[in-house]
Amino acid sequence: MTQTRRDVLQMGAAFGVAAMVPTFGRAQTADMQRIVARPASVQLAPLEYPKTDIWGYDGKLPGPEIRVPQGGRVARRFVNELPQASSMHWHGLRIENAMDGVAGLTQDAVPSGDTFDYEFIAPDAGTFWYHAHNRSTEQVARGLYGALIVEEPTLADVDRDEVLILDDWLLNPETGQLDPDFDAPHNSSHAGRRGNFIATNGSFDSTWEVPANARLRLRLINAANARVFQLGLSGLEGWMMALDGMPLENPEPIPEVILLAPGQRVDLFVDVTAPMGETAHLVRIEDDQGFSQAAFSVVDALDSSKEQRGAPVPLPPNPNMDVPNLETARRITLDMEGGAMGSLESAVLDGESMDFRELVAANQFWSFNGVVGMTETPLASISRGETARMRIANNTVFPHAMHLHGMHFREIAEDGTLGPLRDTLLIFGDESREIAFVADNPGKWLFHCHMLSHAASGMMTWIEVA
Ligand code: C2O
Ligand code: CU
Repeated sequence: MTQTRRDVLQMGAAFGVAAMVPTFGRAQTADMQRIVARPASVQLAPLEYPKTDIWGYDGKLPGPEIRVPQGGRVARRFVNELPQASSMHWHGLRIENAMDGVAGLTQDAVPSGDTFDYEFIAPDAGTFWYHAHNRSTEQVARGLYGALIVEEPTLADVDRDEVLILDDWLLNPETGQLDPDFDAPHNSSHAGRRGNFIATNGSFDSTWEVPANARLRLRLINAANARVFQLGLSGLEGWMMALDGMPLENPEPIPEVILLAPGQRVDLFVDVTAPMGETAHLVRIEDDQGFSQAAFSVVDALDSSKEQRGAPVPLPPNPNMDVPNLETARRITLDMEGGAMGSLESAVLDGESMDFRELVAANQFWSFNGVVGMTETPLASISRGETARMRIANNTVFPHAMHLHGMHFREIAEDGTLGPLRDTLLIFGDESREIAFVADNPGKWLFHCHMLSHAASGMMTWIEVA
């Protein structure tokens, strides 16, 4: 390991501080690993295009994979070498509020040139991710994200474990550079910023070599600003094992079409059924056509005992997950309005009532319960341990991907049964859905649309658990 003079000086400073401040059992800050957000350029689009200027963690796209055992500690000194203030959010992790990384709510944005220490225990095994949480519409679109994988205590019975981060990019077709109009009103008021170039793991060409009959664990993460991926399989067959980092009690056969909204994850176990010499695909379905989102070229075969292995055993459930008590639950309603072709006539922005023209002038298009964007007071204050049930009515014509920070929820079906644990819910236009969760994590938690231009133009609120 090479150490610069600056590192040594910083270590000295950290030791000095550590000596005076009680550390409450935290790791010595001196050995904290750095993660540097900085501009870089990568070959994102095919080779006939120039490299694309991006912002990446450690200059990479995606950022470095963070992988820890369940119950393990994640400790990173975030170093901001971007020309903008930033912060890091650990999407889907049930961690302490102060580490949640929401600029303006749980911490101040880290100015350019500055650092912030993130440190927490990863309580749940599963597929998570991290991304910038300041000016996210721009910063995530520029590439500031990576996978955070928490491993089960006993590794699952698969031959390979692969992370596939799906994203679309809005590139200028001549220059290969990102369209810099991140706050374009048309995107904000319609379906969000959608790209014209689609990649897996920041590459135009993602091919894995796999043996025939191999069982693969595919961890899919949708890091796109707005695109809902519709996915299918060819030459692969298997089971859906986990959603949003939380194991399904009973693995389900993979449906014909998997919908993956921004922020969502799905873990698949798939067997390679394509024969040697052929190529299997994760297929992206668009306008009834299939495109290869990721290719698996079948190079040799595992011994035939690996054929037809039968259904996998479920992944172990994550700990300390209380069942919501629907009877005594605290009821919350969230009415979503706005957007193009919507009915929003006026709403409150920064405490002032504004008509739609004024909202448009402020580049704001969406409201929750008649209020646009963040407020001083939370949407709801919930006592610790209480169950909250929230009725969400999407009175707009667009789909939204509602993400709750800090806790997972379950959807309440029409018949009152509870669906799987999730942290992001896709709600189509004119749909009304209800979720429930036990508010067991104290703090200020954001609840917003993960279509990031929607979040920036009104679809953001927060709840307090105290
Ligand atoms: Cu994945 Cu508030 O974010
Ligand atoms: Cu939305």
